[in-house]
Formats: sequence, structure tokens, C-alpha cells
Amino acid sequence: MRAAVVTRFGEPEVFEVQELPDPRPGPGQVAIDVTHAAVGLVDVYIRQGLYKERAGLPQPPYVPGLEVAGTIRELGEGVTDFRVGESVVTLSGTGAVGGYASVEVADARVTVSLEGTGVDPALAVAALPNAATAYLALTEIAHLKPGERVLVHGALGGLASAFPGVARTLGASVVVGTSRRSSLAAARASALPYDEIIASEDLALATQRFDVVVDPVGGQLRTDSLQVMNRQGRMLLVGNASGDWQHSVPTNALWGGNLALLGFSIGFYLPNHLDKARPAAEAGLHAISQGLVDIRTETLPLADAAEAHRRLETGAVGRRILLTP
Ligand SMILES: NC(=O)c1ccc[n+]([C@@H]2O[C@H](COP(=O)([O-])OP(=O)(O)OC[C@H]3O[C@@H](n4cnc5c(N)ncnc54)[C@H](OP(=O)(O)O)[C@@H]3O)[C@@H](O)[C@H]2O)c1
Repeated sequence: MRAAVVTRFGEPEVFEVQELPDPRPGPGQVAIDVTHAAVGLVDVYIRQGLYKERAGLPQPPYVPGLEVAGTIRELGEGVTDFRVGESVVTLSGTGAVGGYASVEVADARVTVSLEGTGVDPALAVAALPNAATAYLALTEIAHLKPGERVLVHGALGGLASAFPGVARTLGASVVVGTSRRSSLAAARASALPYDEIIASEDLALATQRFDVVVDPVGGQLRTDSLQVMNRQGRMLLVGNASGDWQHSVPTNALWGGNLALLGFSIGFYLPNHLDKARPAAEAGLHAISQGLVDIRTETLPLADAAEAHRRLETGAVGRRILLTP
């Protein structure tokens, strides 16, 4: 197989395209002929060596890449729910390696069929990780019930933008987004299924109340959110895009309102709940197939892995980059 290999930790120039032996699936695994591999910021951090001391993460030389789309090439022992040639997409879950290649081996539990969904493989691999994350956060952690009202901060953000569509499929009655005033016009022009987008700076003045708040932003917005939560409201803490690591929430506001703050990180959740991966992926695909989760993509050849990483490092991307072997 052809693979983009990280030959040592360092700058994007450490990438080398190499011919390597085709990997074979072990028990419970599938081998996939890759058509699209997603490129993520976490791949960049691992390549830079930021996580080199962390157990379970790869040491060079290694092939990066968490999620792929492609077709089943070979079934490992005990795998009966796919057939060779079937179009599939994977989530990460059991490692952070292998995707930037013409063949990848994945755990069958994090692999899901695209057949009959009508979803383009490139869109699937670009949108599915966040859609599945949104599904797990809303169902397993926030226990969203049909008819409840949802508020999503940083409405157009990569992670946030998966929430309105998934919340709709789960029966949310109202989904409101917030955006900073500087992003408000773009957010309001988006086709994402929000009922309304309000300025995050004005949140404390809002008269609406919400049962579930999705907060990937943090900072003062997190505290302001307490004022717009219904009793028994749940706030999902899923990120800190504000970069405000010093902010703390006044916890006495919680018991008076019967409020709950719930942290969720897909990277730490999924490896311990692999049985939840496929149902989450199928639910995410359902939302994507309904046109409720959208994301712009750009596809580069495998040989441009270094260029893909350079663009992510400089923040010069407004779309999800995919590599094609
Ligand atoms: N929990 C998980 O499993 C998980 C998974 C993926 C990502 N994350 C985390 O979620 C957060 C968002 O990630 P993402 O990939 O969605 O990022 P992103 O695409 O850059 O979106 C972040 C959004 O936050 C809003 N924002 C508000 N204040 C901001 C500030 N000072 N600087 C930058 N953005 C600001 C922006 O929306 P407006 O301009 O519209 O306000 C922006 O669209 C990160 O902290 C990331 O680590 C968590």
C-alpha cells in the first residue's frame, strides 16, 4: 500500500510517501481500500510531538489518520456484518493511526455501512465524527428528550454545527444558536437547522429558556448560560474555544436551579464504549442524509499530507481537509 508516513516528530516536512506491506485484518477487524482519509488538528499535534509521552499514541515511524471512508477489502475472523466491496466509513476509537494510506485496518465496531444512505463518502468521513459525538453527548450524557429546547454556542463551529441537526432528529422542539457579534451575519446566513441565532454577548438578556445547553466555547458565556437554563437543565461542557482557561463557574447557582454541568470528550469516551460507536455513527449518518449536518470539504492527494498539515497549523482552512490515495 501507499502511505504518508511520519518519519519523526517535527515539522510537516517529516512526511514521506512510502510503499509498505498491505495490512491484514485480525479478528474483529476489517481491511478497507481507502478513498478518503480525514485530516484533523489532533494529527498535527501528534506529529509535532506534543503528545509523545502519552500512552497509547504512536511513535515514529507511523501512519497518521483517525477516520476513513472506502470499501471493504477483507474481513477479519468473526466479522459477518459486512461484505467485500461494501462502501463504509469509520470513526476513530481504538487508536490514532493508519488512515493516511491506500489500505487501513479498522475495528469492525467503529465501522459503519454507507450503503442505502445516499451519503457521499467524502461528506460522510468529514461530518460523521462530530455528528456521532453530538449524538452521544445529547443521548448518553444530556439525555435529551423529545420536545426539549436546545441552545448551541459558537453555532457554526466544527463541533457545534453538528448539534442542531442531530438534536432535530432526536425531537428537540427548538434549537437556538449563539455567535459572537462579529460572526452573526455569517451564522444567520448558514443553512444549518437553527430556529434562530442570537449574539452571544446578549445572552444574559435573553428571555428564552433552554433544557440543554451545548457549550464548546467556555469563558463568561458558560456562566451567562446559567441564567437561560430551565429547571433540571443540563449544560454539556464540550470544549473551550474561547481559550479562557481561568474562568470558573459559580457553583452555588447550580443547586438553586437543579442544574447540571456535564463534561464530555469523545476521545476519552469512545475507546471505553465501543459498543456505542456504530449506533452513534448510524444516527449521525441519518442526520447527514437528511441534509441536517453539512460541512465543506477539500480533497488533496496523499502526497500533499504535509501541505494539509501546514494549512491546519496556520488556520488557513475553512473546510475539512481529506486526503485521497
Ligand atoms: N468534547 C469533544 O469530544 C470535542 C470534540 C471536538 C472538539 N472539541 C473542542 O470543542 C471546541 C471547538 O472546537 P471546533 O473544532 O468546533 O472549533 P471551531 O470550528 O474553531 O469552532 C469554535 C467556535 O467557537 C466560537 N468562539 C467563541 N469565542 C471564540 C474565541 N475567542 N476564539 C475562537 N472561537 C470562538 C466561534 O464561533 P462564533 O464566532 O460564531 O462565536 C467558533 O466558530 C474546542 O475547544 C475543541 O477542543 C471537543
